[in-house]
Order: sequence, then C-alpha cells, then structure tokens
Amino acid sequence: MSLKANILTKMLPKHIAIIMDGNGRWAKQKGMLRAFGHENGTKAVREVVEASAEIGIKNLTLYAFSTENWNRPKLEVQTLMKLLVSSLKKEINTLQDNNIKLSAIGNLKTLPKKVYKELHEVIESTKANNRMTLTLALSYGSREEILNTVKEISIKVKNNIISAKKIDESIINEHLYTQNLPDVDLLIRTSGEQRISNFLLWQIAYAELYFTSTLWPDFTKQHLYEAIIEYQKRERRFGKTSEQLS
Ligand code: IPE
Ligand code: IPE
Ligand code: MG
Repeated sequence: MSLKANILTKMLPKHIAIIMDGNGRWAKQKGMLRAFGHENGTKAVREVVEASAEIGIKNLTLYAFSTENWNRPKLEVQTLMKLLVSSLKKEINTLQDNNIKLSAIGNLKTLPKKVYKELHEVIESTKANNRMTLTLALSYGSREEILNTVKEISIKVKNNIISAKKIDESIINEHLYTQNLPDVDLLIRTSGEQRISNFLLWQIAYAELYFTSTLWPDFTKQHLYEAIIEYQKRERRFGKTSEQLS
C-alpha cells in the first residue's frame, strides 16, 4: 500500500509548519555553490505545497527566511531574494489552479521593494482562494513577532482600547503575525538539526516535533506523508493522562 493511503483523513494536522533546512549542505555534497541548493529547494516547496493541498491540509507555513538570515553573506541574501521573486512569479498559476491562498508573516517591511511588491500582488490575487492557506515566513523571527505584539498591546492599553486586566491568550493571538492561523499541530525540520531557530515559539507550544536528516532539496511528497503518519501515531495528551483520553 502506498504511504498516502495510510494517512487517516479524519486525523489530519490542521496546521503544518516546516523549517526548510539543509540547502547549503545539499549543494556542498554535490561540489556546488550554496545558491544551487537554494534553487533546488524550490522543487521541494512545490512538492509539499501540492501534497498538502491534495490530502486536505488547511494550513501550511514554510520558514523561508529568518531575521537572523540577514547576517549571511550579502551575495547569498541577494540570491535568496531573487529566487523568491522568480518563484512567486512562476508559482502564481499553480496557486490559482489549486485554489491556494498565499499569506506571509514576518517583518515584511524589511524586504527589498521588489520582493514586497511581488509578494503583495500574489497575496492580493489569491485572497479569495480557500482550499489551503500557504504562509511564507519571511524576515521572520519569533522574538521580533512577540516584541511587536507586546508593543501593539501596550499602546492599546495606554489609549484605553484594551484594559490590562483583560489581556489573555486570545488577545496575544490576535496581535501575532499568525492571527488568522490555528496553533501548529506538526512542526517538521529537515537537515538533521534539532532546534527551533526562532520559529513560531508561541504557536508551537503543543506541536508535535518531527526531525528528519533528509536535506530540504531531497524532501518529497513521500517524506511529507511519512511525517504525517508518524504524527498520527503520537498520543497528544495536552497535559492529561492517557486514560482520560480514551
Ligand atoms: C535553508 O538551508 C535555507 C535558508 C535558511 C534560507 P540553509 O541555507 O540553511 O542550508 P544549510 O543549513 O547551510 O545546509
Ligand atoms: C532556519 O534555518 C531558518 C530557515 C529555514 C529559513 P537556519 O539554517 O538559518 O538555522 P540555524 O542558523 O542553523 O539555526
Ligand atoms: Mg541551515
């Protein structure tokens, strides 16, 4: 039986987030420049977007560029930004054909104008799509997001829009970049690293973590199915006992 047939459609994660890591090492193994790895990483993006939509995942969030990634060599940052523009241009039809809505989280104003413009065009033209929401985390850092949330809420408290006593989890959720997304159920990281790297710290509070040594450009639909099957075998207790669940 194929892996896909083993996925229980009633137990799908509502939100999958992926730390797409290992492009540089993938290229190095082949004796190529890091840029070659990033270029090939876009194929894996297409694989997971298609596979997720096909099996009925409602929310997929991809970590494409972190606030810390600005510290990479200038040339690599430029390559990544160029690749982003060309991928957005190339993929817009696929998004439309598959009824996928594009969204973005992060400190988007820090992106180069060209990237920001292209991103907004695709977001605008796919906003009525409702099969799946694909969110790109760009110039994203979870601490920056939380900091931003604290600032916004503080201003509202100061202006008597929110009372300090009424601040609860839902108010925080409403001020995060991810305001329209449910909590992450499954977090996948490729490349063998087992860390979070400043990604969705608040939103992964109860996510199942899945680490694989597969380098991102090698990640296929089958790898995603494997991760989902593993997720479905886990017992999510949310603090309760196993007996309470059954
Ligand atoms: C992930 O691959 C892509 C980004 C972080 C933009 P890396 O570029 O981090 O690849 P490695 O980790 O150096 O192999
Ligand atoms: C995390 O990968 C960021 C993205 C995948 C966009 P990094 O390669 O930047 O993470 P570290 O530096 O190894 O933690
Ligand atoms: Mg990396």
